[in-house]
Amino acid sequence: MSHVRILVIHGPNLNLLGRRQPEVYGSVTLEQVNEQLAILGRELGAEVRTLQSNWEGEIVEAIHGARGTADAIVINPGAYTHTSIAIRDAIQGVALPTVEVHLSNIHAREPFRRHSYVAEVAVGQICGFGVHSYLLGLRVAADLAAERRGAAS
Ligand code: DQA
Repeated sequence: MSHVRILVIHGPNLNLLGRRQPEVYGSVTLEQVNEQLAILGRELGAEVRTLQSNWEGEIVEAIHGARGTADAIVINPGAYTHTSIAIRDAIQGVALPTVEVHLSNIHAREPFRRHSYVAEVAVGQICGFGVHSYLLGLRVAADLAAERRGAAS
């Protein structure tokens, strides 16, 4: 079987990782997160594509584009987590297994971060483990993608 394909989407402000509130988000840069995802992807035999956008519409289109080009999605929607019905609907629309990840523990911060529109359509949510949230998310997504491939064949 060919490699499973995982699309990892980083939402708004995540391009500032490493410089932005390091006490909350850590000192690892986005480039380093992507490097670690690529290394783990090779280990898991998964093809990992990463994308960062500060634009809601671009994220919606990336999710649409995942249909047919990815087997599962890992997404950190950033602040759009708490506001975007459009991203939620896009995930529901493409019906690809999706894992929501956050660097910080969104349930232990300001009350407005506790609600996630994306959680309602994701298979699950991993938060609070810094870069490990992404790595755990990738592991789960690779499994979900393989299951989906198996079910389709
Ligand atoms: C975040 C949490 C969000 O509440 C915040 O707006 C972010 C980052 C995280 O990874 O912890 O931009 O998604």
